[in-house]
Amino acid sequence: MTFDFDTPVERAGTWSARWEKYAGRDVIPLWVADTDFRAPPAVLEAMHARLGHGVMGYTAPPDELRAAIVARMQRLHGWRIEPGWIVFLPGVVPGLHLAARHLMTSGDHALLPTPLYHHFKRALELAQRVHTEVPLVLQAGRWVFDEERLAASVQPQSRLLYLCNPQNPGGTIFTRSELQRLADFALRHDLWICSDEIHSEILLDAGKPHVPVASLAPEISRRSVTLNSPNKAFNFPGAGCAWAIIEDERLRAAFAADHHATIHDPSVFGFIGALAAYREGDGWLAAQLAYLRQRRDQLEQSIGTLPGLAMAHVEATYLAWIDCAGLDVPDAHALFLQHGVALSPGAQFGDARFVRLNFGTQRARLALALERIASAVSSTRSR
Ligand SMILES: Cc1ncc(COP(=O)(O)O)c(C=O)c1O
Repeated sequence: MTFDFDTPVERAGTWSARWEKYAGRDVIPLWVADTDFRAPPAVLEAMHARLGHGVMGYTAPPDELRAAIVARMQRLHGWRIEPGWIVFLPGVVPGLHLAARHLMTSGDHALLPTPLYHHFKRALELAQRVHTEVPLVLQAGRWVFDEERLAASVQPQSRLLYLCNPQNPGGTIFTRSELQRLADFALRHDLWICSDEIHSEILLDAGKPHVPVASLAPEISRRSVTLNSPNKAFNFPGAGCAWAIIEDERLRAAFAADHHATIHDPSVFGFIGALAAYREGDGWLAAQLAYLRQRRDQLEQSIGTLPGLAMAHVEATYLAWIDCAGLDVPDAHALFLQHGVALSPGAQFGDARFVRLNFGTQRARLALALERIASAVSSTRSR
């Protein structure tokens, strides 16, 4: 079966968060992280069929989905989990917030490797938990942990280590040995690990597998909360289905303490979409990854020719973290917006010298955005 990722899908008027913000303006929106692709046919058909039934009452998490998640973790990562370890959530973001609220008490301290998807920090701020940001470092073209600085930042009251693997916005797939050293560090300092692995199926380089940190060893699993979801890889975050995988019973009970009081289960369409994606979505996912790989290459090639811009090779995700320091402008996000491309300002993730570009879009749209970015860059040269 072939899948069409190239024909633009009109998203105006569909309440898209990414598109509505610039509605009526000649702006290409490449910021919020969803793609411009239709979800897999199997997902759409399953949702249609459920809609045909007509009753959308309260829905219990289906055992079939628990079994499909268990089977997928075993097949993709050789990670053996139990159905009972899964706590369903409407999205990964609520899981980040639950971790800050329930795995830490006031006075506890968290470590936050940055730059990082903004909800990690937001979770700590809203829960009023103190934290230290520990910048990643660029080594051999990859954003990796600064292990010395992590060691220097840990405190007696440190309780939680947040991890984003693969990394948003850095695009790194952390290797087994990088994760092993991080996990050893967590063990040594008795830290819980909250690992957001939502991008774990958007892998763009052959031979670089995703390793769930909890799969490294039983003693790591017992201190880990792993968050995951098919929302990103299969592009239905608006329907929303996610979960936490938590082996340790006490940790699981703490994490889910006020479940159903503040956080709901996924909607029936989230459950339906997740099950269909896991059962029948692999062919579509492989085709989407091939398409995203081409877009990544198109982007890297183009950015490589532009003076003042630099980016690391993107191993995973459809997000590029672009260093604009060489442009020598006070606000690169504003500059690109003036030239008709809306990116995410790097300050949102912890570094104002950068912008983040979402390349989960059609080839022609990306090409046009890159032309506009090039003219923005040349406008800085002619000042
Ligand atoms: C690392 C990361 N976590 C979580 C999310 C959002 O997850 P959800 O829509 O399932 O709440 C995103 C979306 O961009 C993300 O990049």
